[in-house]
Amino acid sequence: MEKITVAVIGCGRIADSAHFPALSKIEGVEIKYACDIIESKAQDKVERFGAKQAITDYKVALADPEVDAVFVLTPNYSHYTITMDALNAGKHVFCEKPITVNYELSCEMARKAAEVNRQLVIGVCNRYHRTVELIEEMNRTGKLGKIYHIYCSFRAHRSIPGLGGPFTIKEQSGGGVLIDWGVHFFDLILYILGGAKIETVTADAYSEMAKDIKEYVYRDMWAGPPVLDGINDVEDFITGYIRTDKASISFNGAWAQNIDKNEMFIDFMGDRGGIRMMYGGDYTFYTVENKELVQYKPEYEIPNMYELEDKDFIRSIRTGEPTRNHIDKVLESAKLLDYVYKSSEERREIRL
Ligand SMILES: NC(=O)c1ccc[n+]([C@@H]2O[C@H](COP(=O)([O-])OP(=O)(O)OC[C@H]3O[C@@H](n4cnc5c(N)ncnc54)[C@H](O)[C@@H]3O)[C@@H](O)[C@H]2O)c1
Repeated sequence: MEKITVAVIGCGRIADSAHFPALSKIEGVEIKYACDIIESKAQDKVERFGAKQAITDYKVALADPEVDAVFVLTPNYSHYTITMDALNAGKHVFCEKPITVNYELSCEMARKAAEVNRQLVIGVCNRYHRTVELIEEMNRTGKLGKIYHIYCSFRAHRSIPGLGGPFTIKEQSGGGVLIDWGVHFFDLILYILGGAKIETVTADAYSEMAKDIKEYVYRDMWAGPPVLDGINDVEDFITGYIRTDKASISFNGAWAQNIDKNEMFIDFMGDRGGIRMMYGGDYTFYTVENKELVQYKPEYEIPNMYELEDKDFIRSIRTGEPTRNHIDKVLESAKLLDYVYKSSEERREIRL
């Protein structure tokens, strides 16, 4: 089996919890470089995951002809520059979600990948989740009938990540809860529908819960601690309504809300069956058979989706066959995010 040599750029949370553990298990993959601007984070990956060398400048890895592919696991604003540099250096790229901070730059990245004939995949990992695979198949084979409406909720109890830091500075993140969490939900909806043409978008965004960073009360802060003299200019709540040629979509997303527990799910309403898909978990499917209401709650092993997406990326490098999360298949949801933001900024319905 042809050996594939990779460099991992950005050694933070997602690198640590998902990609280093996954890559270190994939046969025929060598992690030659762990790169982070904070050297100790890169060095830690050498010690814990067998990366050969710790570096602080990603251009060292790009200049190495042995490196076939890079993983871009850095904050959103840097996805564009690092990915473009890597493609220009002839490397295949796995870039974490969101593609980057807006649709226009996302399209440039897709064009560059096509021009240099390299794989460019986006970390919309849920496409590899067994639940999502099953629901996509159920829709494709008609078990839900016609899906006429989808409602999605990505709301949490007071959990703005790293308030004041890169997640809440628009210039660095591209936005708040929509681009951070909503990106997964919209991606899944379009994926399960088998694509859809967006017709109208209406949305409102709010940044109310942490107007004063010092006064914000929270239980946990997963990219914390708060940067008290930092910036928070992104939305912590967003709501809206989308019409497509297949189904309408309503959504509510909150990084922070005064609720007891997180409400993370997507409801698919079909004329033959309905599904509530719990985000990252299982689902319940209701349908009518012989005039009886039937409920299915499947039990199955849930394999590690990060391992599956990383394996598929490596396969695509070896075979040249694109993955299900190739950038060309993710652009539509990036476009949708842009229109949701545009509608909320201009306080009007956008017709496409
Ligand atoms: N697929 C998912 O479900 C998922 C989950 C979490 C995060 N993410 C995405 O992954 C990305 C990283 O998120 P995170 O939570 O790991 O953030 P993080 O802040 O924990 O890690 C980012 C790391 O990148 C490093 N870095 C920044 N600029 C760099 C550069 N130029 N060169 C090398 N290293 C650099 C930082 O020092 C930091 O260690 C974000 O885009 C985020 O949206 C995806």
